Amino acid sequence: MATAAQTSPTSHPAPRGTCPFAPPPAYEQARHDEPISRVGLYDGASCWLITRHEDVRAVLADNRFSSDPENPGFPFLTEASRQLLTVKPTFIRLDDPEHGRLRRMLTGDFTMRRTASLRPEIQRITDELIDRMTDGRHQADLVNDFALPLPSLVICLLLGVPYQDHDFFQECSRTLLHRGSTTEEVVEANTRLTAYIDALTASKRDNPDDGILSRLVARGELEIEDIGAMGRLLLIAGHETTANMTALSILALLRNPEQLAHLRAHPEATPAAVEELLRYLSIVQNGLVRVAVEDAEIGGTTIRAGEGVILQVNTANWDDDRYPAADTLDLTRDTRHHLAFGFGVHQCLGQPLARLELEIALETLLRRLPELRLAVPFEDVPFRSDMLIYGVHELQVAW
Ligand code: HEM
Repeated sequence: MATAAQTSPTSHPAPRGTCPFAPPPAYEQARHDEPISRVGLYDGASCWLITRHEDVRAVLADNRFSSDPENPGFPFLTEASRQLLTVKPTFIRLDDPEHGRLRRMLTGDFTMRRTASLRPEIQRITDELIDRMTDGRHQADLVNDFALPLPSLVICLLLGVPYQDHDFFQECSRTLLHRGSTTEEVVEANTRLTAYIDALTASKRDNPDDGILSRLVARGELEIEDIGAMGRLLLIAGHETTANMTALSILALLRNPEQLAHLRAHPEATPAAVEELLRYLSIVQNGLVRVAVEDAEIGGTTIRAGEGVILQVNTANWDDDRYPAADTLDLTRDTRHHLAFGFGVHQCLGQPLARLELEIALETLLRRLPELRLAVPFEDVPFRSDMLIYGVHELQVAW
C-alpha cells in the first residue's frame, strides 16, 4: 500500500486523471491518506491542502480564516491573482464587517422570491435560444449557442449591462479565469473591464434604468468605483459559472444514460438533479483560498496564523464519508450540505439564480430535444483543465 509520503500531492494544481469528471487522483488519494497536507504553489510558496468534507466546511465556517489577500501568507494560485491586489477589492475578497456591509446591499436582489419572479423571463430567453439554435440545423456547439448566452443575457438584464457588449466582457472574463494568462494580459483585461463598468455605472446617474447598477448609484452610499467593482464581480460570477455547469451537466447526463432516462421520465425531479450535478461536477476546480489570522486546529492539525489553505471543494463533495459511492452520479441521492456554492459568510450570493437557470435550462433542453446526443467522440471533447472554472470549451451536440 502506498504511504502518505509517496502519495501526498506536492504541487497545486494537480492534473486530472482518466475520468474527466473526477477530481485529480492525487487529491482523492490525499483525502484518504493525509486529508490535510502541504502543497507547493506556482511561486515556490507552500500552503495546506484540505480535502475532506468535514474539514473544508469547518474552515469555511471559521472566522479565524480570512479571504483578504492583504493578509500575510495568503496563498496565490497564479501570478495574475497576486497582481490584481492593486485593484479595488470586491467583497468576495474582504472580511466582515466590510464584506457584510457591501454584500447586504445586494441580498435583496438575489432572494428566492425575487429570483422566482424572473422565471417567465428566463424561460422566454431559454426558448428563444433553443429556437435559434435548432432553426434549420441538427448540430450546434451547445456552449456558444446556448449555455453561455443564457446566463449572460440574464445577468446583463439584472445589472443593466447592454448584452451587445457580450463579446467584450466574455473575452475579458476568459482572460481573467485562464490559468495560463500572463500577468500583463490579466492586468490589461481587468483594466479594460474596470473602465467599461465604471463608465457604464457613471452613465446611470443621468440615464437610470431598473437594473442593479442604477439602484446602487441612486442609493448614493458608494463611490462609482465601489459599485463598478461589485458589477465586475457579478458580471463574471453571474455568467461563467452557470454556463459551464449547464454544458458540463448535459455532458455528464449523456454519459450516464440511465440517469438521463430517469430525468426524462421525471422532469419534476430536475431541482434535485441540479443539486446532484452541482455536487458531482464541483466546477470551482482549484478550490477556495483562505489564510489563518489566528492559530486554529482543524481535523487534528494545527494551522498557524499566517499559513494559507486551499479548500478543495471537489474532493470534499466526493467524500464517501458524507456521500456514499460519491464517485457515482445518482440523481436521487441525498445531496444536503454539498459545498459547490461554498459555505459560511461568503457562500454564493447568486445561488438561487444559478439553481433556477440550471433547472430551466436542463428541463427545457431535454423536453424540446428528445434526441439530444454528442456529435463528436467523447475523447474529443475539450475540457477546461486550463481554467479556474471547470467545464468544456465546446460541446458539439446533435438532435
Ligand atoms: C461566491 C460558486 C453562480 C455570485 C461563490 C462561492 C462559490 C460560488 C464556491 C464562494 C467563494 C468563496 O467562499 O471564496 C458558484 C457556482 C455557481 C455560481 C458553482 C453556478 C453554478 C453565481 C451567480 C452569481 C454569483 C449566478 C451572481 C449572479 C457570487 C458572488 C459571490 C459568490 C457575488 C461572493 C459572495 C461573498 O463573498 O459573500 N460562488 N457561483 N455566483 N458567487 Fe457564485
